[in-house]
Amino acid sequence: MMIVVVALHLIQVFLYGAYKKPREATWMVGVGLLLLTLGYGSSEAASPFPIVSRACASVFRLLSGPYNKGFMPAELACIEERCRARFPITDIIYNCPKCGGLLDAVYPDPPPAADLRALWLGRRTSNAPLDQSGVWRFREFLPFLPNYDSVVTLREGNTPLLDAPQAARYGGLDRLTFKHQGFNPTGSFKDNGMTCGIAQALRLGKRRVACVSTGNTSASMAAYASAAGLQPIIFIPHGNIAYGKLAQALEYGARTLQVEANFDQILALVRRLAERLDIYLLNSMNPFRIEGQKTIMVEMMEQRDWRPPDWVVLPGGNLGNTSAFGKALREMKAAGLIGRLPRLAVVQAEGSAPFYDLWRAADRSRLNPVVHPQTLATAIKIGDPVSWPKALREVEASHGVVEKVTEQEIADAKAIVGRCGIGCEPASAATLAGIRKLTAAGSIPADADVVAVLTGNVLKDPDYIYRYHTGDLKSPSGARIEPNYGNRPIMVPNDEAQIAAILDSQLGNTPKQG
Ligand SMILES: Cc1ncc(COP(=O)(O)O)c(C=O)c1O
Ligand SMILES: [Zn+2]
Repeated sequence: MMIVVVALHLIQVFLYGAYKKPREATWMVGVGLLLLTLGYGSSEAASPFPIVSRACASVFRLLSGPYNKGFMPAELACIEERCRARFPITDIIYNCPKCGGLLDAVYPDPPPAADLRALWLGRRTSNAPLDQSGVWRFREFLPFLPNYDSVVTLREGNTPLLDAPQAARYGGLDRLTFKHQGFNPTGSFKDNGMTCGIAQALRLGKRRVACVSTGNTSASMAAYASAAGLQPIIFIPHGNIAYGKLAQALEYGARTLQVEANFDQILALVRRLAERLDIYLLNSMNPFRIEGQKTIMVEMMEQRDWRPPDWVVLPGGNLGNTSAFGKALREMKAAGLIGRLPRLAVVQAEGSAPFYDLWRAADRSRLNPVVHPQTLATAIKIGDPVSWPKALREVEASHGVVEKVTEQEIADAKAIVGRCGIGCEPASAATLAGIRKLTAAGSIPADADVVAVLTGNVLKDPDYIYRYHTGDLKSPSGARIEPNYGNRPIMVPNDEAQIAAILDSQLGNTPKQG
């Protein structure tokens, strides 16, 4: 058998050397190894001989590495400086088995920046599903799959950059643009990551996927898992989820378990269950979801013709997005796609702000969890964010800041985003509230070029909206939230004259028709 492999390797060298055909050359090695592992099953993780499979994968890497950098190998790498252990990309691990640290997907250098820009731009006119995805269009930037057979796309990403002059004024800026992830298929940025997480689950031969979620992750996972023919199982904190999101999870067919515990407690429980029931976990510590979320930044840079803004502002909950954005920006800079890093500003809700506390602490080596996190912005109601070490690394690398805002500030900022004709869910509005605070404090100058990422759609939490505008919204402490920008519906009799009079008094003279 070894003779066959050696012969194929010689053909590979010839193909690469004479015809510069790296993909074909790599295929030759692949065929050799396929022969070697024949009968061991198509799914890497499903192999009954994992040691043989792993040895073959190492040989494969050794042979294909120098010839085709973009194709393989991707690896998982521990982010802890003292460890930096590496693992095969197909290992089902969510933390480093050696030290417990978080894991990053890492790759060899990408193709030259000019080639990537041209390739990605060209794909905008393609009708191929993969090219129409705002995630997979940038696939050279997340090359963790050996091929794209396992990808299910709902055409995620492709979200707009919107100018919002009224919000800019409110935030103390000359100009502000929103990158609105609420335009995604299930209405949040989670779709960018979920298409990748589900592709990895399929590639690993998994049949069941699960997540613990404050809402948007479950909605997204339910949709993508069902579209891929997998069984979605979601765990949600009892009574802490916006109805728009729960409704989505049910409609998309997820087995839904409401647990009498908070997010952090349920996450610990589900990690234990995952092993027992052979479930693939799709929470935000899943490194493949982070890879997908990177494309939010790549797409934004492309929309700005690769001119980085001064600041990127985003809400912080579990801090997966902060980790993804920072990684994307660093990788784009390293690849020569952008010339400098924008600064990251992460905004948390006051009652749920462990990352803010960490940022302000003299010692940033340990995060103190908030045991009973409180905020009406349920998407960021996280007391013990799993991704904080990655997020800290990214905020520091970008010379960024962390801010916190009150429930009243979030509610008012949300109403302003609505008045721009844009709208968003409460957690997303923390960005504008944070910008207002940061400009007032002089941390962000008025003429700064700022992009705020709106993470979720306005319809995710309609109950919050109605209560705010009718003066019925109360913060978790019981304090009334003032409808400073409220828009209460008016009860009117069924009487034309009276309605006209009311409108006249409310709106000024009504314009004459004709
Ligand atoms: C709408 C919305 N905004 C912000 C967040 C927080 O994102 P992260 O957990 O990545 O910090 C979430 C997470 O669920 C979300 O759904
Ligand atoms: Zn480690």
